[in-house]
Amino acid sequence: MKSQNAPSPVAPAASSPGQEQIVILDFGSQYTQVIARRVRECQVYSQILRFDTPATRLAELRPKGIILSGGPASVYDADAPLPDPGIFELGIPILGICYGVQLLAHFLGGRVEPGQQREYGKGTLHVKRPGCALFAGLPRRLQVWNSHGDRLTRLPRGFVVVATSENSPYAAIEHPHKRFFGLQFHPEVVHTPRGRELLANFVHKVCGCGRQWTMRNYLEQAVEEIRARVGQERVLLGLSGGVDSSVAAALLHRAVGDQLTCIFVNNGLLRAREPEVVQEVFGRHFQIRLQYEDASELFLRRLRGVTDPERKRKIIGRTFIEVFEAATRRAGPARFLAQGTLYPDVIESVPIGGNPASLIKSHHNVGGLPRRMRFELIEPLRCLFKDEVRKLGRALGLPREILWRQPFPGPGLAVRCLGEVTPEKLAILRQADAIVVEEMKRGGWYYKTWQAFAVLLPVRSVGVQGDERTYDWTVAVRVVESQDGMTADWVKLPYALLERISTRITNEVRGVNRVVFDITSKPPGTIEWE
Ligand code: XMP
Repeated sequence: MKSQNAPSPVAPAASSPGQEQIVILDFGSQYTQVIARRVRECQVYSQILRFDTPATRLAELRPKGIILSGGPASVYDADAPLPDPGIFELGIPILGICYGVQLLAHFLGGRVEPGQQREYGKGTLHVKRPGCALFAGLPRRLQVWNSHGDRLTRLPRGFVVVATSENSPYAAIEHPHKRFFGLQFHPEVVHTPRGRELLANFVHKVCGCGRQWTMRNYLEQAVEEIRARVGQERVLLGLSGGVDSSVAAALLHRAVGDQLTCIFVNNGLLRAREPEVVQEVFGRHFQIRLQYEDASELFLRRLRGVTDPERKRKIIGRTFIEVFEAATRRAGPARFLAQGTLYPDVIESVPIGGNPASLIKSHHNVGGLPRRMRFELIEPLRCLFKDEVRKLGRALGLPREILWRQPFPGPGLAVRCLGEVTPEKLAILRQADAIVVEEMKRGGWYYKTWQAFAVLLPVRSVGVQGDERTYDWTVAVRVVESQDGMTADWVKLPYALLERISTRITNEVRGVNRVVFDITSKPPGTIEWE
């Protein structure tokens, strides 16, 4: 997922002079981003570049170290992704992980033999050369997460064995003079419990990086760079109230104050009190110029009579662009449009061997605004991961309610109000949803889950309330845990909590006489019902 038409980002960019960094060359591993995050957890800036980035480009960037990621290919494949051999001549330390080791062997005079199929599994590592800087402070036996695929059968020239494992006599290798290292296992995954320390040893002890990458430093630097780029011009930002646009708004406001105008569109599909909270936090507390566009009637009018989920989405998407465009015209002339794009959306994925990680979530990404809107883009979060954005938000003084918001789909409650969306049904859904959120928070569960919300089903059934027979709607409660939204498990909430939610909804929300709990994981279900 490349972000289109992105000019030079405002951010302490990779090429900032003096910025210590580690470059990760991506050979298509599903764990490449995890490696980048582990390095950043060491307070060292890291960026992911394509596997074939020219050595001359790397020489310009002057990284303190290079990590070759794993990948699904075999160095024997005709179309195997290979690095520029010049990277081995730069005099920069290199750590090859998994496929990365095979590259070291392939280019530096070792031998690799094809295995049957790549499999993963727990293994035990025996360190033979405890003096190796990578293993400083670590025990001589370590639990690791192996990857069984192609195997190294002869050491590359100048390398020595550092550690062995049951499936490899060359589980860890080192070229002491050149400071090249190879690990047959994955230090970045949680199944290698002390893998973080290994990576920390690489970045600090081998590459000599300090701990400069903190969100406080980032904040100062980003503010300066935004000021330098924006000058006296004006910036517009579409504020959704979600984590990313909120942090972007607070950051830009810190940098350019009233030159920033945030546009907040109420599409009539927001949750209870959402427009109020956004106005309170950004308008009154931060004193950000906020242009509130209440387009709820227009959206709801266009959705009248529509039941097909895809059509609903299309109508909402089109209407949003229209409304936002009109709002930018009303906001007056501005040169810049800011967006809360994050690093995972920017990384050029390497689609090798059908790696699913490279196909993540394209259907949820808003297609972007039309080209006729001639703004220069500012994306001040472009090199940050989500957890870093939250830390930055904290440094900027944003409240926890905003920073730990659960994901909420762009088409809003329309995907949770099945069948036709009407103001009456939305009112019921909002009230039920507010009860779910309130009880989840009260029980201490809300921030432990990925998403917790109510869905209004287009199903009416018979019930009895008081002495009266009713024929009312059904609410489904959906609570899931997930790492990234790609897969999810339903959360086994305590019965007492479920009971409170159900009792309150049927007592307090008129029009609902039945509450069901969704016990479907993803797959086979999706998180939203649509
Ligand atoms: P599904 O329903 O596909 O959702 O399992 C996965 C995650 O994506 C969120 N989602 C959306 N996010 N725009 C968004 O920004 C959308 O149109 C959209 N649809 C689903 C969903 O809430 C879940 O976190």
